[in-house]
Amino acid sequence: MLRKEFIKQTGLAAASLAVLPASDLFASHTGEKLKLVMIGVGLRGQNHLELLLSREDVDVIAICDIDNRMLTSSKEIITKSGKKMPQIFTGDLYAWKKMLELKNIDAIIIATPWEWHKEMVISSMEAGIKYVGTEVMLGITLQDHWDVVKAAEKHKAHVMMLENVCYRRDVMAVLNMVRQGMFGELIHLQGGYQHDLREVKFNNGIDAYGGGCEFGDKGWTEARWRTHHSVYRNGDLYPTHGIGPIAHYININRGNRFVNLCSFSSKARGLHNHIVKKCGPEHPNAKINFKLGDVVTTSITCANGETILLQHDTNLPRPYSLGFRVQGTEGLWMDVNKSLYIEGKSKPHQWETAKEWLDKYDHPLWARWSKEAQGSGHGGMDFYVVHSFIESAKRRTATQMDVYDAAAWSAITPLSEISIEKGNETVEFPDFTGGQWMYRKPVFALNNDY
Ligand SMILES: NC(=O)c1ccc[n+]([C@@H]2O[C@H](COP(=O)([O-])OP(=O)(O)OC[C@H]3O[C@@H](n4cnc5c(N)ncnc54)[C@H](O)[C@@H]3O)[C@@H](O)[C@H]2O)c1
Repeated sequence: MLRKEFIKQTGLAAASLAVLPASDLFASHTGEKLKLVMIGVGLRGQNHLELLLSREDVDVIAICDIDNRMLTSSKEIITKSGKKMPQIFTGDLYAWKKMLELKNIDAIIIATPWEWHKEMVISSMEAGIKYVGTEVMLGITLQDHWDVVKAAEKHKAHVMMLENVCYRRDVMAVLNMVRQGMFGELIHLQGGYQHDLREVKFNNGIDAYGGGCEFGDKGWTEARWRTHHSVYRNGDLYPTHGIGPIAHYININRGNRFVNLCSFSSKARGLHNHIVKKCGPEHPNAKINFKLGDVVTTSITCANGETILLQHDTNLPRPYSLGFRVQGTEGLWMDVNKSLYIEGKSKPHQWETAKEWLDKYDHPLWARWSKEAQGSGHGGMDFYVVHSFIESAKRRTATQMDVYDAAAWSAITPLSEISIEKGNETVEFPDFTGGQWMYRKPVFALNNDY
């Protein structure tokens, strides 16, 4: 359905009303503790489960997964927490639909393979759930992204993509510095997902990491599903860790927007070489032609004139780095060399160690909650993303990262595939906000609350 038709059909007089309100119109909250359910308690879901069980304001009332091993370890986590065992839904690929029939669910967290997110997010909203937290990637095709946006508008529900890197301590300190004008006017930004995933994409079906060259039914955890995307797709398959923080730095969907995008892909060698090296040229998977280029590079231009360079690099030997660069008229920060430079403050033409600056400009959220965040996944940032989702749901207010953010960040994948498919053509970026980006104001992490 076209946006215009959608607005007509829902009887809304102006496009602006189709955009979700900042404080909500929902029915009143059902109980003191948030009643939450989860689909997908694999390795990522179990991280979320542990965090949720450690909170006194959340009741995990049901979980759903199809993998007995994942359910067994989840049950162990629950038993260890001393909390009541939630209802368990399992048995087939659609057992989660039964779970959605439960009454009075306040919120859901979805941590399943990417190809399930769209359907699970939309069905959750159709079931009346107003707070949907989904792991990264909103859908596969561009249309999937539109479908989720339209469903969120129709059901007046909040969809938050649980992009944890937005809460990384250095990333947030830099946000603080950006907001205080330390880098001047921002001009160019870089980021990406540069992570050697060869032993995640192939394992022995028993261990999560390496030990074999299997994937699909013979693999386990991400090797079971993620690797297929490298077989059949060529694009930036995982843009959100890089683009999320960048989007906050330059107020995307809030006074700014992505205008167009162009992607380039290198040849694909890394995954094949890995199989041959680890398991020999006779291994059946050595015959596979992987479609995903080893390094995919995407340029994006923005309405306010900034350029963004994103890289997806998951098939070659390399240490992990998201490769952030935030550059303005007065200086820049780069995470790879952990350095920054600020004109007039740093010694001319010399990199300065970023640490002192990042400590000084520590974001108020980290200053307040770092004790609670201690020990949670990915250096503490996982605490913050769950905290933000739960606090929004408790207060029945809009999530600070909303469905428009999720759609814009995640749509980079299908758009990059289209660009590469068309011989590196520049493709227009859709405006999921329907023009509201011009009026919306920044809301992310404005204070030390959540
Ligand atoms: N933000 C991060 O740092 C981060 C880290 C890891 C993974 N992730 C994301 O989390 C999501 C899950 O990844 P993971 O590493 O946990 O993968 P995983 O394979 O370990 O877990 C996925 C789980 O979903 C279950 N599942 C699949 N289909 C299902 C269905 N129809 N019904 C119910 N359960 C189903 C699987 O059995 C499995 O337990 C992905 O979107 C991934 O990109 C994010």
